[in-house]
Amino acid sequence: MDALGDQRAIEAMIEQASLDFSHCDDTAQLAQVKARYLGRDGRLTAMMKSLAGLQGQARSDAGKALNAAKQAVESEWKSREKTLANQALNAQLQKDAIDVSLPGRGCEDGGLHPITLTIARIEAIFRSIGFDVADGPEIEDDFYNFTALNTPQDHPARSMHDTFYVEGGLLLRTHTSPMQIRYARQHKPPIRVIAPGKTYRVDSDATHSPMFHQFEGLWLDENISFADLKSVYTMFLRQFFEQDDIDVRFRPSYFPFTEPSAEIDMRFGSGPMKDRWLEVSGSGQVHPQVVRNVGLDPENYIGFAFGSGVERLAMLRYGVSDLRLFFENDLRFLKQFDR
Ligand code: FA5
Ligand code: MG
Repeated sequence: MDALGDQRAIEAMIEQASLDFSHCDDTAQLAQVKARYLGRDGRLTAMMKSLAGLQGQARSDAGKALNAAKQAVESEWKSREKTLANQALNAQLQKDAIDVSLPGRGCEDGGLHPITLTIARIEAIFRSIGFDVADGPEIEDDFYNFTALNTPQDHPARSMHDTFYVEGGLLLRTHTSPMQIRYARQHKPPIRVIAPGKTYRVDSDATHSPMFHQFEGLWLDENISFADLKSVYTMFLRQFFEQDDIDVRFRPSYFPFTEPSAEIDMRFGSGPMKDRWLEVSGSGQVHPQVVRNVGLDPENYIGFAFGSGVERLAMLRYGVSDLRLFFENDLRFLKQFDR
């Protein structure tokens, strides 16, 4: 065997192997080509076997040359393997790529619920005349919901509210009036505050819902009179309905925590309830006992309070004849309200 001839044959084989590897497009092909050179019946393996026929220096030279060739072929194979792995990874990344700039599918703009819009409107009007806006718990205890509001355990007025009781002697507040007590115990007069929020009663028909919203108003000061309550509330209604000539009536009524008391009714101007009167609020002069209950002397301080139904005001403003529509979550209904 001529050593130079062998050397050329080895180089040609390495070159061929490199070319064959470069044509492989996946790992299965690559494994096949690798076997063709390095496998049990591979070309390089066969050349290694032929070493057995050589002797002495010739055998050691050829052995070195073949070992070097084996390393060269292996490194060609490894480099192709790496390239293929990279290509596969890139292809996967490309496939999984998300174009974050594409518009979302089927996403419509949300909107605020008409009751949320109504509460925001009420808050804005009262803030504009210097009222604070307060928030309080929906789960109350008997003391704040009834007793402190001059409604002791055996008081007949308790049956005016069909109460949801919860465990531990607690209840779902039946009105926002407990906020009169909470707020007035934490703030010094003069107090001007409204407290909107959810209230609960065992009640359900076109104008009553088991969960509804009220906003409590409290004005506690020296030297104010029922005329102030009337003017503030009438001003509120005019702004709320954006109309100066609205039909409002203050109808004498009874609440244990106010004396005198009045309910406030409004007349529907349009819609299926046109000309029907709807009660929107209770109101009155805070009872002297309640003034005492918040730690003030009724000889020096006078309070006026109201507790109004948010849904009722929304019904009148939007001309909705059944309050339950607000809570059915029918988008065709809800989409009509944007202010
Ligand atoms: C009260 O809840 C008194 N706390 C109001 C009050 C506050 C009087 C401060 C004096 C001083 P009444 O039960 O009438 O009162 O409810 C007040 C308003 O809440 C009603 O005028 C009505 O607009 C609304 N309302 C009452 N029950 C429901 C109900 N089930 N669904 C929807 N709105 C209701
Ligand atoms: Mg009432």
